[in-house]
Amino acid sequence: MTEGAATPDRKPTASLRLLAVFGVAGLSLSLSVVVGTIFLTNARWSVEEEIASAYRIASGIIEERSARFSDAPDTMLAAIELAREIDHLRHVAAYVTDPIGVVLSEGSGVPLEPRAAPEWFAAMLAPEPRLSSFPITRYPNILGNVRLVSDPADEIEEVWEDFRLVMPTIAGAGMVALAFALAMILAILRRLGVCRDALDRLRAGDVTARAPEQGLSEFAALAEGVNALATHLESEQRENERLQRRLLTLSEAERSQLASDLHDGVGPSLFALRVALRDAQVLALDAPPMLAAPLCEALGALQRHAEALQRLTRSAIASLRPMLPGDASLDEMLGEMACSFMDIAPSTRIEVVAQPLSLGEVVDLCIYRFAQESVLNAVRHGRAQQVRIELAPEAGPAPRRLVVRVIDDGRGPPNGVTEPSYGLIGIMDRARAIGARFVPPQRAGNRTVTELSLPLDETNRPPPSGATHPEKQHA
Ligand SMILES: Nc1ncnc2c1ncn2[C@@H]1O[C@H](COP(=O)(O)OP(=O)(O)OP(=O)(O)O)[C@@H](O)[C@H]1O
Ligand SMILES: [Mg+2]
Repeated sequence: MTEGAATPDRKPTASLRLLAVFGVAGLSLSLSVVVGTIFLTNARWSVEEEIASAYRIASGIIEERSARFSDAPDTMLAAIELAREIDHLRHVAAYVTDPIGVVLSEGSGVPLEPRAAPEWFAAMLAPEPRLSSFPITRYPNILGNVRLVSDPADEIEEVWEDFRLVMPTIAGAGMVALAFALAMILAILRRLGVCRDALDRLRAGDVTARAPEQGLSEFAALAEGVNALATHLESEQRENERLQRRLLTLSEAERSQLASDLHDGVGPSLFALRVALRDAQVLALDAPPMLAAPLCEALGALQRHAEALQRLTRSAIASLRPMLPGDASLDEMLGEMACSFMDIAPSTRIEVVAQPLSLGEVVDLCIYRFAQESVLNAVRHGRAQQVRIELAPEAGPAPRRLVVRVIDDGRGPPNGVTEPSYGLIGIMDRARAIGARFVPPQRAGNRTVTELSLPLDETNRPPPSGATHPEKQHA
């Protein structure tokens, strides 16, 4: 296999739409996780810094002020006052205990729990708790301790407020990106869809299919490519049809020439032979009795052979050339053909329902041969008792088609399957040559229908409506 050749067996397993949805959703989620992690790591680090710095300041103040406790008139009161002041500072809490640890100060003395932030969030951000004790001394006694603890609750609250604002914003941005990506993908798929529809119609044989104009340059190039391909295919098909029609015309011309040669050459000679034989038969009557009887018998045999030869020649001429140009319209030719079947299938009733019509010699002959082969098949293979040939323009707006149907009441193709042989292949070749569509025999109820339809365009135009006559029936 050549490299890059199409591999029709390989079915596509991915859809661009799903890829885009999952891709953008995954990307938004990953982005949210990364931003959230960076945000939290950074927040944890700054909470730690803030707390450490506040703790350092508070420790410094307590150390400095506790050195002067002994000068105060009431040392414990001064210590409680100091604890209250420190307790008002951010990120720290302070309280006073007696030497055995009983809390003496009024302040909370206990670090606050964050109110709004959930526990898991506080646990992630909270730094290692810090606790220091500063002894309250009045020489020589230790009256108690000022205890200092770190209090990250308010800082965590602040971070939580920011977090609550940032994360929904990121999630919202992700949703917007997802919606935008989806809208883009749908727009792309819609534009690809119209090109694919045009290609599908081309593949189905409709070479007039074109992709509509596209506003975006990339799709405009694609549509142009599809349309260029369609135009090329259409011109190739037209050329092909023209050549086939030409071939058909030549072949019909040859057949017509053969028919003329037979008619003009063999016909008169056969006629002359029969006349001469008749004369000889008359003369033979006067021959001596010994000779007269065998002579008359031999001449009679010759006469019969000459008649058979004349019949054969006539039927060969009729088969080669069912009519002479301008002789008859299509419906009349079909009527003639139906009558000719009386010899082959006397019990079969063949009916022609058609308007007087002529679409030019070549097309008329194609339709004629289609009908002839279809009737023959119905009689031969289907054992039909009734065959109907219908010829009518399709109902509906222009451009219309002429539909020719041969409907028979026979048993239809064996197992419903038609294996084309010379007959159907010949019909198909002719149909292609005149741009017609052939539908091989198909069962429809208890009937078998074979159909040929062709566009009624400039090439195949029926006579003006004024020239048509009421529908005729031949049987
Ligand atoms: N109206 C019909 N009813 C039943 N069978 C049909 C009919 N038309 C076609 N067939 C089936 O289609 C086959 C192909 O038809 P086709 O005319 O191509 O070949 P054929 O008649 O067998 O031979 P020939 O080449 O001499 O025409 C037939 O053999 C027959 O089985
Ligand atoms: Mg046949």
